[in-house]
Amino acid sequence: MTDWFDRACKAIPGGVNSPVRAFGSVRGQPVFVSKGEGPWITSEEGTRYLDLCMSWGPLILGHADPVVVETVQKKAKDGLTFGACHRQEVELAETILCGYPWAERVRMMSSGTEAVMTAGRLARAVTGRPLLLKFDGGYHGHSDGYLVKAGSGLATQAIANSDGVPEAIAGCTRVLDLDDLEAAKALFAEEGDSIAAVVIEPLPANNGLLIQRQRFLAGLRDLCDQYGALLLFDEVISGFRLRYGGVGPLFGVQPDLVTLGKIMGGGLPMGAMVGTADVMDRLAPVGPVYQAGTLSGNPLSVAAGLATLQQLFDPKVYDELERKGALVENMLQQADLEHMQVVRMGSILWLYASGETPPRRAVDVDGMISERFGSVHEAMLRAGFYLPPSAYEVCFVSLAHTDAQLSSFAQALVEASRTTTKQAAAGT
Ligand SMILES: Cc1ncc(COP(=O)(O)O)c(C=O)c1O
Repeated sequence: MTDWFDRACKAIPGGVNSPVRAFGSVRGQPVFVSKGEGPWITSEEGTRYLDLCMSWGPLILGHADPVVVETVQKKAKDGLTFGACHRQEVELAETILCGYPWAERVRMMSSGTEAVMTAGRLARAVTGRPLLLKFDGGYHGHSDGYLVKAGSGLATQAIANSDGVPEAIAGCTRVLDLDDLEAAKALFAEEGDSIAAVVIEPLPANNGLLIQRQRFLAGLRDLCDQYGALLLFDEVISGFRLRYGGVGPLFGVQPDLVTLGKIMGGGLPMGAMVGTADVMDRLAPVGPVYQAGTLSGNPLSVAAGLATLQQLFDPKVYDELERKGALVENMLQQADLEHMQVVRMGSILWLYASGETPPRRAVDVDGMISERFGSVHEAMLRAGFYLPPSAYEVCFVSLAHTDAQLSSFAQALVEASRTTTKQAAAGT
């Protein structure tokens, strides 16, 4: 049998096209997927797994949703890309705006990274200021200015957390802890006149699920208003995941700019920026802020996005996702495990391999979770469940997951957690 990972490592750096896929923080080797259908994926070896990773979020309807696939197949026959205007991109923009009634414009791109990168540039252009403020544990794609972490000296001064990011660029980002409004107030008091935007995942889901308090997000809104900075909600994960549109209304906070990706592309490459006309019309060709893309708004991604969003119009869809997520959470709660709990919002579930209170800040995450999760991940894979290969990544439940499948998942997770906790205690 072909060792695909061995072959991959010879042709692709680390064998992967995105680092977390390499199983670096769990045991074993990456699964090579040959097929996805509903909640299932099948490996090259023919093993079927119940998928809880779901391509990291886009597949809210499940793998290969029949309507999405048929739409894309039909569309493909009419040409894969035009690099020119087409009707459906207008329809998709209008469909997205239905979910963001305060906004007036959408610009489409090919990834979330592009969207957040451009949003930072736009915020700088609108305010004429250089600095972006982000939060420890937030992920905003891999453009230079966001690949930073808090430095050890000056509390808020960022340093690059990737080689190849010049200090001059890292130096234009400030990093604070989530859930610390006092720190944000202090930073604004010192540098508020230079801050272009506060960039935050309103539901941070890239370092575990760090659910924020309403008053923190509202406090950031007030600071932005007071100092004339823009509030940018990075909703690449949360957009259309918990309701049709963004999570702003759930917290009673309206941002100035939103970045999207994942679900709105229906499983094909997509990213977008959403905002009011006065901000968004600074983009070229109307305004002086440059942004472009050969495949931006390409017909296939747009068709997949539209076919997905149209199925999410009905609010019952989100009730159903909430119910399915709660089913797993409740089963885990009842099991009352020593080192495993579900931290959840809607259909986003973080398997927090700890008995401690769920954290709101990255620094408060239990330092033992990688070790514990590694064993659980291995056991779950053996039992036929594909979890995201990192203790810090969240699971996604889709409409394709049945109650019976989710119950068997929760049951297997309880067993795997009990067994691995016992083994760890026995030192085996
Ligand atoms: C909140 C957030 N922003 C931006 C990105 C980057 O999106 P992409 O991977 O499409 O470039 C991600 C990716 O996971 C994300 O979760």
